[in-house]
Amino acid sequence: MKRLGTIAAALSLAAGLFTAGALHAADTYKDYMKKEAPTDCFESREGYSNVAPAEVKPGVPNVKCSNKTGGVLWWGDPYDGTEPMGDMPVEADYTHEEAVVKPRTGQLKYFMPCTACHNGSTVPYPKSKTPRALVMHQDIVPDALDLQHGRKAIWCLDCHNPRNRDTLIDHNGGEIQFNQPQKLCGKCHGEVYSDWRDGIHGKRIGQWTKGGKKRWWVCTECHNPHMVQTKRFQPIVPEPRPQFPRTRTNADHEKGHGAVHATGAAATTGGH
Ligand code: HEC
Ligand code: HEC
Ligand code: HEC
Ligand code: HEC
Repeated sequence: MKRLGTIAAALSLAAGLFTAGALHAADTYKDYMKKEAPTDCFESREGYSNVAPAEVKPGVPNVKCSNKTGGVLWWGDPYDGTEPMGDMPVEADYTHEEAVVKPRTGQLKYFMPCTACHNGSTVPYPKSKTPRALVMHQDIVPDALDLQHGRKAIWCLDCHNPRNRDTLIDHNGGEIQFNQPQKLCGKCHGEVYSDWRDGIHGKRIGQWTKGGKKRWWVCTECHNPHMVQTKRFQPIVPEPRPQFPRTRTNADHEKGHGAVHATGAAATTGGH
């Protein structure tokens, strides 16, 4: 019995070593957590929710980013870079607490601002809302005649203000700031908007005590308005699972265990 046990232990040790060797070092959770954070990372929608890592106070980073996916894993200061959300058309719960958001304009590639070109002369004001092919902005909307939002029922100028391109537009022709996209989306998606307002849709971080300050994620931090038909939402690549429970000092036990089961040797050794 003693010999069998020794053989099994040797077998599982060898198998454990083999497994460890086969894993790429950078693929283990512990290894990449140890590496330095990437210089540029994002919070939700890749390319449109970037954060530059900085210190909120000595030794405390504003965010901790994944070396694996570039996604933010943890916020050192949930309010870093935010501003007050501003008013909402409907009285809501948030009016009784402090609500902040991250401004959108800094994330937009063409916000130079837009009126740097769309001033009526460099680029003339559009004559009608009728969809037409565009030569510009194909990096944002590849085919303006096949916009992937609203199944052909809507077009650019149902959202973008034709006269002041630095703004979006409401149903009455009033201006909506890019930093408050919820007001734009809410005009057509009333139900989701009220879910969002009530905290059922979207995301918030911050203080969860009554009346506590919270940061709200706005619609375009998760949804690409030009893409929702093909990709309703941009999923975040998941982090790899932790290799072994925190209570264990190393992974040898888990690796051996898996190998024993895999080789069917468990029966001979009576488990571990
Ligand atoms: C470098 C110049 C430039 C900048 C900056 C620019 N645009 Fe444009 N945009 C154009 C041109 C040129 C067209 C017309 C393209 C065509 O007719 O083929 C256009 C067309 C459009 C259209 C289609 C409707 C229309 O007016 O013809 C939308 C919507 C639009 N732009 C949105 C924006 C937004 C929003 C911004 C800022 C975030 C922006 N643009 C910034 C050059 C620019
Ligand atoms: C459903 C509403 C909606 C429609 C329809 C729409 N847009 Fe937009 N667009 C937005 C919003 C909202 C933003 C700001 C996105 C953000 O906050 O990330 C935006 C941003 C942009 C930008 C700036 C992107 C950047 O990175 O600078 C351009 C250019 C643009 N839209 C062009 C167009 C064109 C051209 C069309 C039509 C072919 C169009 N949009 C249709 C809502 C819309
Ligand atoms: C002018 C009206 C209008 C505005 C403004 C608008 N949408 Fe939409 N949206 C539509 C329509 C129409 C559909 C298609 C509904 C359907 O087919 O049932 C749609 C569909 C969607 C879908 C589901 C995609 C699908 O086809 O399954 C998402 C997600 C979405 N919109 C997000 C947004 C976001 C985020 C905003 C604000 C940036 C926004 N919408 C602004 C009209 C609008
Ligand atoms: C934290 C991320 C996040 C935010 C913020 C967010 N959404 Fe969504 N939304 C999602 C996810 C995830 C889905 C589900 C996507 C799927 O089904 O593939 C979704 C689905 C939707 C849909 C389609 C499904 C339905 O119920 O009709 C619409 C429309 C929509 N969102 C609009 C909005 C609007 C409008 C806002 C802002 C007021 C918003 N979303 C804010 C993540 C978000």
